[in-house]
Amino acid sequence: MEFFHPPKPITIFSSISILLLLIFLLLSQNYNFKFHTPLNSTHLHREFPPISDQFRALHFPQTAPSRVKLRKVRKTRLSREEKLELGLAQARASIRKAANDSNLSTSSIDYIPSSSVYHNPRAFYQSYVEMEKRFKVYVYPEGELPITHAGPCKNIYTIEGRFIHEMEDGGNGFRTVDPSRAHVLFMPFSVAWMVKYLYKDGSYDQTPLRMFVSDYVEVVSKKYPFWNKTNGADHFILACHDWGPIATEGNRFLYNTSIRVLCNANSSEGFNPQKDVSLPEIHLYDGEISPKLLSASNSHHHRPHLAFFAGGLHGPIRPILLNHWKNRTHTNIHVYEYLPKQLDYYDEMLQSRFCLCPSGYEVASPRIVEAIYAECVPVIISERYVLPFSDVLRWEGFSIEVSVSEIPRLEEILMGVSEERYEKLIQGLRTVRKHFVLNRPAKRFDAFHMILHSVWLRRLNVKLA
Ligand SMILES: *[C@@H]1O[C@H](CO)[C@@H](O)[C@H](O)[C@H]1NC(C)=O
Ligand SMILES: *[C@@H]1O[C@H](CO)[C@@H](O)[C@H](O)[C@H]1NC(C)=O
Ligand SMILES: *[C@@H]1O[C@H](CO)[C@@H](O)[C@H](O)[C@H]1NC(C)=O
Ligand SMILES: *[C@@H]1O[C@H](CO)[C@@H](O)[C@H](O)[C@H]1NC(C)=O
Ligand SMILES: *[C@@H]1O[C@H](CO)[C@@H](O)[C@H](O)[C@H]1NC(C)=O
Ligand SMILES: *[C@@H]1O[C@H](CO)[C@@H](O)[C@H](O)[C@H]1NC(C)=O
Ligand SMILES: *[C@@H]1O[C@H](CO)[C@@H](O)[C@H](O)[C@H]1NC(C)=O
Repeated sequence: MEFFHPPKPITIFSSISILLLLIFLLLSQNYNFKFHTPLNSTHLHREFPPISDQFRALHFPQTAPSRVKLRKVRKTRLSREEKLELGLAQARASIRKAANDSNLSTSSIDYIPSSSVYHNPRAFYQSYVEMEKRFKVYVYPEGELPITHAGPCKNIYTIEGRFIHEMEDGGNGFRTVDPSRAHVLFMPFSVAWMVKYLYKDGSYDQTPLRMFVSDYVEVVSKKYPFWNKTNGADHFILACHDWGPIATEGNRFLYNTSIRVLCNANSSEGFNPQKDVSLPEIHLYDGEISPKLLSASNSHHHRPHLAFFAGGLHGPIRPILLNHWKNRTHTNIHVYEYLPKQLDYYDEMLQSRFCLCPSGYEVASPRIVEAIYAECVPVIISERYVLPFSDVLRWEGFSIEVSVSEIPRLEEILMGVSEERYEKLIQGLRTVRKHFVLNRPAKRFDAFHMILHSVWLRRLNVKLA
């Protein structure tokens, strides 16, 4: 297969205005669409009324097929696609039922000790179980190593390689070798490896990345019927590299219609939380979580410092933070641009009650996950960052958000957190930690499964809120 042939002229769509309208409609609302023929205006109808006020807990299509309807449908011969859609309709109905079932006590859900960190623990649990029962992913076999079917499994972009490997051969039961049975199709290329192997250092030219993506989509859309049927709406990609969004510009439908799972989840840069998934950045230096960080859970660390941050002057927010808090040794806020040699980064986290997580050049920061591991309450200072798993998790149950304008008041704000609230935040951290841990092999409710669950929700066209 060829990935490197010269760029082709972009197809100009005759009905460009219809297309733009469709994309707008698709992105701005919860729509349901059929998959038998290419997506067009007759297929993009609003099958479900918008969410009513009583149903605030869940943002997804309202009307479920009634039992009578389901039975009727079963008697006729169903196509594969209809069966898939029927299964999804049943999943939606059961999630909706669980979400509103006040009889179902959360104590019957053994793994959730506290509901304060989930928007709706019952809906989440039901949705997760439905995913385990039904969800099937096809991984395109096209493409060659190393840029496809592999990715970095160490350092800052760990999650990219670990997810691709887990999806390819993790034995997790979600992969199907029959694409017609799949709910979503995964294009397993690594943007981090594109940058490593295709990008010319210092050239600032990202064209090779876009071309690779463009070629990949072209290859699979010619060889298989699936891309053309939905314009990629049931396809997904995953990228942790900062240039993930730029690479996806290589195909306009991939950018605007497909599910893009991205660390760089900046809502001002085309990230659309309705269809895209925010990916947590998990920095594993040599592929493993530092045992030191994990020691947090075994002991009650004495935490003499109020807050800690060490990091470079990247992006627009950190200069403000450093300007206000660097070298303010008379306070208990420990902010460094360069951590002094005698201090250990993880020890500092373990000795602090709060860990400051300002955005750098990009919105995501690996500090958030490190803070969660260290049971150091993350203080999120970012703008336009769509937080990972935020359709399921109540981030206010285990973190603190401070706006950029509040940076000068940081000490006052953190001192103002009562002991009672702090304890709750720590409990929340202990509850959500498993959702941010990568396991080999993957375990239920871990980071791999949570990412897949986010994709599942997008495929259901639902948002748990
Ligand atoms: C949409 O598809 C239907 C058939 O599925 C076709 O009859 C109709 O002409 C198409 N509309 C547009 C605007 O392409
Ligand atoms: C959910 O339950 C409440 C009362 O328990 C009811 O008022 C509301 O209509 C229900 N919503 C749905 C969508 O069933
Ligand atoms: C909840 O329990 C009550 C009494 O046991 C029952 O009448 C009601 O139908 C139940 N509601 C749901 C949604 O199952
Ligand atoms: C999908 O559409 C493209 C562009 O219109 C076309 O070149 C390709 O052959 C189609 N794929 C299939 C499988 O028909
Ligand atoms: C995505 O859609 C917007 C609005 O329709 C359009 O301006 C933009 O060019 C599209 N993005 C890409 C990469 O094609
Ligand atoms: C901050 O403190 C360090 C070490 O104490 C010192 O070397 C540095 O000059 C100080 N920076 C400022 C801006 O005061
Ligand atoms: C998010 O995107 C906006 C618009 O491009 C940009 O101004 C801002 O710097 C970005 N945020 C970060 C942290 O990169």
